[in-house]
Amino acid sequence: MGQLSKRREALLPLRQALPIWFHADEIRKGLRGNKDVMLLVGETGSGKSTQVPQFLLHEAWCKGQIAITQPRRMAAISLARRVAEEMGTPLGSWSPASKVGYSVRFDTSISSSTRIKFLTEGMLLQEMLHDPSLRQYSAVIVDEVHERSVNVDLVLGFLRNLVTRDKKKRKGAPLKVVIMSATADIAALFNFFNEGFEQVSTPQKEPEAQNKQESSYDSESSWSGISDDESSKATGEPVANGRANSSSTGKNVSVSANEPSKAENGHQSQNITTCHIEGRQYPVKIHYLSEPTQDFVETALKSIFQVHHKEPLPGDILVFLTGQDTVESLEKLVNEYAQGLDPSVPKILTLPLFAALPQTAQQKIFQPAPPRTRKVIIATNIAETSVTVPGVRFVVDSGKVKIKQFRNRLGLDSLLVKDISRSAAIQRAGRAGREAPGTCHRLYTEETYREFQPATTPEILRCDLSSALLTMKARGIDDVIGFPLLNRPPRESLEKALLQLFQLGALDDAGKISDFGSKIAKYPLIPSLGRILIEAAGPERDCLLEIIDIIACLSVETIFLNLVSDEKKEEAEEARRELFRREGDHLTFLATVQQYAAEQTDRKAWAEKHFVSHRAMQNVMDIRKQLRNLCMITSLFTHTFDWTQVLSNPSEQTKSSILQSLLRGFAANTARLMPDGSYRTILGNQTVAIHPSSVLFGRKVEAILFSEFVFTNKSYARGVSAVRLDWVGEVLGA
Ligand code: CDP
Repeated sequence: MGQLSKRREALLPLRQALPIWFHADEIRKGLRGNKDVMLLVGETGSGKSTQVPQFLLHEAWCKGQIAITQPRRMAAISLARRVAEEMGTPLGSWSPASKVGYSVRFDTSISSSTRIKFLTEGMLLQEMLHDPSLRQYSAVIVDEVHERSVNVDLVLGFLRNLVTRDKKKRKGAPLKVVIMSATADIAALFNFFNEGFEQVSTPQKEPEAQNKQESSYDSESSWSGISDDESSKATGEPVANGRANSSSTGKNVSVSANEPSKAENGHQSQNITTCHIEGRQYPVKIHYLSEPTQDFVETALKSIFQVHHKEPLPGDILVFLTGQDTVESLEKLVNEYAQGLDPSVPKILTLPLFAALPQTAQQKIFQPAPPRTRKVIIATNIAETSVTVPGVRFVVDSGKVKIKQFRNRLGLDSLLVKDISRSAAIQRAGRAGREAPGTCHRLYTEETYREFQPATTPEILRCDLSSALLTMKARGIDDVIGFPLLNRPPRESLEKALLQLFQLGALDDAGKISDFGSKIAKYPLIPSLGRILIEAAGPERDCLLEIIDIIACLSVETIFLNLVSDEKKEEAEEARRELFRREGDHLTFLATVQQYAAEQTDRKAWAEKHFVSHRAMQNVMDIRKQLRNLCMITSLFTHTFDWTQVLSNPSEQTKSSILQSLLRGFAANTARLMPDGSYRTILGNQTVAIHPSSVLFGRKVEAILFSEFVFTNKSYARGVSAVRLDWVGEVLGA
């Protein structure tokens, strides 16, 4: 027996032990005949993502591929790897015989024989540019819907159209759609799809249905994903399962007990089935702080070592922090403290986990801890529902999350550290009880918990919508208001997004997508970065390679290590000085990439010496390669480039070309110096300060552009470059 078959055999009993295994037949049958949509709810770890595509693969209707979407690239890749192992097939492009592949931004691994394809929501939308009716697929499985990213909302809208209004475009080949979620109440989804089916069966009712839709899904509560029995699960009551406790007979049951819905009230649809998978959840004891903490990284550190000293092995610790920066700071602190541990105490192995982490590092979290060692996984909210980390008995929850939020006053998206919702807190606690009873240490008080919002607001209600609008326009949706969405974004944000697309030249006067817009939409970048890329490729600017390096840096959270101690800060500043460019952060990023790329012997040592994150730089190099490839294979650019040239310090002229290209995309993110020394945004006249992490911090220049906006105790511009005011005027047409 070959290695692959051996592995497949070894994994089979694990698959058979998953709660979903007993529902295989129900799931297959639920999609036969004219049942086109299945709503499937099951706890994280019940086996949805790995098993459902395999269950459907041999169905008679399944002649094409199965797509399964994920909100994050990391999950798409690791799931593909896992399912390939379970099926005993090599992964993706490594072999023409492979049945499983993946496609994520900047990385695709598929072959001609791929049947199951894990891909991010963004990539599925990207594929719709070439194949709007998704004809290569027999089924699209939408996973993790409860996360409610903008992209998933768009995917749901397109899929609803494809199984209802646009069904004929598939020319007789049915498309089956499975919507999967760990927490969502399915009532809103049921109503959403049902309405689509009703509209096609009774076309005369269409206008009324459209109106109804404006309000019907906007009920935040229907997405709350929280109910009393879920709370009891988290507070330590012995629970067989959460509210989604269908009987083991596997009947189609629906929705939460405390929220009647159309589905529950027996409002049946001929086209939609629902399925609940009972979870395995052991009781989780909750500990709160008695006093609020000012510094959750410090408090997390204490909690980790308290658990480590008190609790016997086995039992790993999963810590929820906010972003790559806090994860890396805590990782460093834990490692420093762990060095001083008494030899009689078990060892600690820290493992960071965040979206931008390179593959090899991500895989480590799935491996069991070595003997006499406790794994401490320090994660962002990626571990909340997206990734199941085995072996965890203890959760440390900061109660914070970093989210993107549209700040209308400034007209910009910003990254904010915010309190999580109660449903997120329950999910996080639940991670401790997957394999045995567990404990969750909440780094906030019980009172604070009660003040949390019941559920996280869907991204479409809080983010810049320019990408979403461009996505729709590029796929032929001119009437964005009539597009089916679970939640309708505020009119103000739609208008802002339209304005931004006009400014970028992506829409024409009639509001239709322009040639420029179509070009921008072909790149897996936000519209402003897409615009910059195209500008840089033009003969006038001619700085594409440099801009690719900068965009690669902007695509990871941060390339410079966050420094903990003051003494290190001085050392770092000294070491980084040779990278710093007086023009600002973007040219500093460029210098960093150039020097890192030129380093042939030991890039890791180079990164350490310059206090640059080697991990982030590996990612940057990866994205850089993919973007270069993408630019190479598109015929968007009229003149040829020497892709092999080694870049050196840019000339003054190249530098201004770079900055002017950046301005094309970031014209809305500009500020001018005021007589009192502060900066005010040129559009909007709001005060904004240069972030302390910027090389321009403390400097006074006539105008700045910035690639990111951060709001902590005040408004900060991060990723800042000095620009000339007349350049800004030119771009803004002033
Ligand atoms: O989708 P859902 O959260 O319901 O479960 P899943 O992702 O299909 O995971 C089911 C099980 O497969 C997990 O509990 C893990 O034991 C295993 N798995 C894994 O080992 N490696 C992965 N990359 C994904 C899942």
